[in-house]
Amino acid sequence: MSETNTITLPTWLDDFIFNELGANYCPRNSNMTNIDDDKDRALNYLGTYFPRSYAEAYCIFCRFFQKYKAHYNGKTELKIFDFGCGTGGEIIGMLTAIEENLPEVGTVEVVGFDGNQIALRKYEQILQVFRGKTRLQIIDKVFPHKVDDFYDFDLVGEVLNQRFDLVITFKAICEFVEKQQFETKNPYLHITKKFLPKLTEDGVMVLVDITVYSGVSEQWLPKMMDKGLADSNCEIIERNQGFNQAILVSHSRRMNDISKIAWRIIKNR
Ligand SMILES: C[S@@+](CC[C@H](N)C(=O)[O-])C[C@H]1O[C@@H](n2cnc3c(N)ncnc32)[C@H](O)[C@@H]1O
Repeated sequence: MSETNTITLPTWLDDFIFNELGANYCPRNSNMTNIDDDKDRALNYLGTYFPRSYAEAYCIFCRFFQKYKAHYNGKTELKIFDFGCGTGGEIIGMLTAIEENLPEVGTVEVVGFDGNQIALRKYEQILQVFRGKTRLQIIDKVFPHKVDDFYDFDLVGEVLNQRFDLVITFKAICEFVEKQQFETKNPYLHITKKFLPKLTEDGVMVLVDITVYSGVSEQWLPKMMDKGLADSNCEIIERNQGFNQAILVSHSRRMNDISKIAWRIIKNR
């Protein structure tokens, strides 16, 4: 059994990405990686996958915050780290869910990590417009860095010298599988083990990824994710039902665009 949610991209966001930034709706059939995207490919990403990430995050976080509202009682500030934020659709979706569901939260600090500078620049432009639309005070830091290998990744953990209420990663770990950045090691395990210790005592990590079969690892990505999580000794507190969750997003270039994702929300044991 699978769940479905249907979301419409807010008008201001639709207008800004397509009319101001020049995004294009252009689904691709192959190539699971975006780390090396040039300007044209970044605009294709923005018009196609950014709205999906917005909708995915909005659905997941609305559901989570509604269920765990008591957990956030008395919290006025949240600190969030996004690994592989790219153009940041999930950040805008998540912030919108915070605004609507956590009335006591007034300040959100977001650290966005990514190795593609073009995507990060688009994210910053969108966030700037979002600031004018929200009651939240947003403190944003970008952490531009391309992880080349296993050893390089260890440095990222060392540089992050604070704890976070939320660590999120949307559709980025698949690129580490595809490019074998950690050789044949399971990137879901390695990335989870790196960031779980960065959570506050009651913090959670949200992992979202596409649900395809990887010819490189010769495994279905959700299975690889579950194996990595099992080996990292975390506790899974929420997850999509069934194999994947379908989320539909409508915007000016496409009605009911469909995204199928696997997601897990985990915490330290
Ligand atoms: C499919 S995009 C997802 C972006 C965003 N999270 C979203 O859902 O729209 C994957 C992101 O991971 C980043 N990424 C992939 N490999 C990376 C690496 N080795 N180091 C740093 N960033 C990387 C890419 O630059 C890209 O922005």
